[in-house]
Amino acid sequence: MSIMITGANGQLGNLIIANLLAKIPATQIIAGVRNLGMSSTLEALKDQGGEVRYMDYDRPETCQKAFTGVNKLLLISSSHTDDTVRLTQHTSVINAARKAGVEHILYTSFAFPQTGLKIPVSVHRLTEQVIIDSGIKYTILRNGLYIDFVDVLGLNEAIQSGVLTTRPGNWRFNAVTRSDLAQAIANVLAGKGYEQQIYELAASKTWTFADLAEVLTAFAGKTVIHSEDVSVQHWIYPFLSSIDTVSTSKDLEQLMGHPVTSLKDSIAPFLK
Ligand SMILES: NC(=O)c1ccc[n+]([C@@H]2O[C@H](COP(=O)([O-])OP(=O)(O)OC[C@H]3O[C@@H](n4cnc5c(N)ncnc54)[C@H](OP(=O)(O)O)[C@@H]3O)[C@@H](O)[C@H]2O)c1
Repeated sequence: MSIMITGANGQLGNLIIANLLAKIPATQIIAGVRNLGMSSTLEALKDQGGEVRYMDYDRPETCQKAFTGVNKLLLISSSHTDDTVRLTQHTSVINAARKAGVEHILYTSFAFPQTGLKIPVSVHRLTEQVIIDSGIKYTILRNGLYIDFVDVLGLNEAIQSGVLTTRPGNWRFNAVTRSDLAQAIANVLAGKGYEQQIYELAASKTWTFADLAEVLTAFAGKTVIHSEDVSVQHWIYPFLSSIDTVSTSKDLEQLMGHPVTSLKDSIAPFLK
């Protein structure tokens, strides 16, 4: 069995490979990278007998070559900023996988696309369809919103001032950490089955800005209250309105085998 992970130099790819190394022999793991400058995780993979192969989503011939002998392919969605380009890249990768004889393709999509078809969701729905139409066995891993968005909310300033100020609204969040996603995805990659399945890898319970202020209070050892202000302007709010941050699922916890990381632990990396 040979398992390849694309975008392996990225944050999610690195975490998935680190999880896989603890589960299966490194000789079964191939990292697909566009830049051959490697992280310590990929160095560890190579040291243990795994492979690192060059591949660029923009150069289909490099993908087909890199997919030689690969049984399972995890396509990590492209980080390109233009969705039209991303769809072209994903389609090229899927076509290359078909030509190379890949048996099973897994794709990191975006959670709960049914309730919103705006960017960045549509590129994922369209990619899912290309995969389904390819006839290759598939598993769609619809990743929830990364918790990282909290970094633009001014958490450290809120601790200093005692007030977390956000734009008014009935905000609730099903956000998750990359490390939880990586654990679940590595379990799927290392395990058997999961074909023709779509998983919603979001939190099983949502949290609110009031919950966030409570967690900040616990961190700060002093009260942080939540306040709303219509004058708060940030690109993050229109973005959050364009996706489904409210729906929940037990898929992630079931695939990990334990509850998701708590809000307190999830936001800790963003506090000074
Ligand atoms: N769920 C969410 O909230 C959320 C948020 C942001 C992004 N995402 C999506 O999730 C993906 C993974 O997240 P991440 O945190 O791991 O992102 P990341 O750290 O930016 O990693 C993205 C990886 O994709 C690789 N890549 C980009 N273009 C490529 C190309 N043309 N050919 C081959 N590889 C290419 C990059 O390669 P290089 O190392 O060479 O640049 C990088 O290793 C992102 O790419 C994005 O599609 C999801």
